[in-house]
Amino acid sequence: LPSHHILPSGDKIPSVALGVWQAGKGEVGAAVQTALKTGYRHIDGAWIYGNEEEVGKAISASGVPRDQLWLTSKLWNNFHAPEDIEPALDETLTRLNTEYLDLYLIHWPIAFKKGSNNVLDKELTANPYPTWQKLEELVDKGKIRNIGISKIKNLTANPLKHKPAVNQVELNYFNPQPELLKWSKENGLLLEAYSPLGSTKQVKEALSVPEVKEIAKKLDITPAQALISWHVQRGTIVLPKSVTPSRVQENFQGLFHIFLTYGMAMECAKLMWRLIVVTLPDDLFDKLEKAATSHPPQRVVNPSKNWGLDFDVFDENW
Ligand code: A2P
Repeated sequence: LPSHHILPSGDKIPSVALGVWQAGKGEVGAAVQTALKTGYRHIDGAWIYGNEEEVGKAISASGVPRDQLWLTSKLWNNFHAPEDIEPALDETLTRLNTEYLDLYLIHWPIAFKKGSNNVLDKELTANPYPTWQKLEELVDKGKIRNIGISKIKNLTANPLKHKPAVNQVELNYFNPQPELLKWSKENGLLLEAYSPLGSTKQVKEALSVPEVKEIAKKLDITPAQALISWHVQRGTIVLPKSVTPSRVQENFQGLFHIFLTYGMAMECAKLMWRLIVVTLPDDLFDKLEKAATSHPPQRVVNPSKNWGLDFDVFDENW
């Protein structure tokens, strides 16, 4: 299975990341340290998670060189106005103690009015181009290497300078979004799966799905590893969140530990560093895919529900 995907910029994004949404202060740093020791090289965070400073400190303490790391953050809804974007990004860069992000996403396809955390800015929401153009400018300036979107259901072709590199959406057994996945593959847009084991309350249920248990048993892996492999095999980036050390390790099984040493040893470690996710045999993969896609989605994130917005207004503009 692919350890990385290549984005339109030519950058290689690692297939599995540590997600840090709802990873609280006082625990997220330890989770990041465990992840980096285990071999993760991709951390998926966001300004709104409120834990970037602790994530940044853990990264600095790990000693993993910046050029071996993939750092993603997200622009929050009340910073969409072009003049607010660079200051918001700078805050994230300072907190993460880095000069650039590998990937910066527009967190939600909705903009809030300045200073508010729930009042919709209808104009900025209906016309995301000024926001996107500012992000393109920041790519050209070198502060961000790739830009993308999140929670978008349909994109229409548009002449953008830098096309969105990824679309981060909820993808799991209960909400596998096969049409979106097909469309994205056909249109060269990489999907990133958040809540890949199911949203928090569903994890237990997802790990007990008979098809998942069958794979785990036959391949001698855990149910969580079966689901993570399924996502990678579907061709998406996977962002499992955990603050439990044993789970952080479990979700990234099979990776060489890197011992940070000097000189040649360092170069060898870089060359050897690769992800080995168990490939599911076709029949088992198909069985799980069929089970996941044959029930109606149980939970679909829809901004229109949350903010009284007609989703199509936004879709037309993309
Ligand atoms: P924890 O962080 O306490 O280890 P999300 O929807 O944000 O991806 O949430 C993932 C949820 O799944 C978290 O509650 C996390 O708990 C839990 N989790 C992560 N990895 C595993 C695993 N391998 N086995 C069981 N639960 C897991």
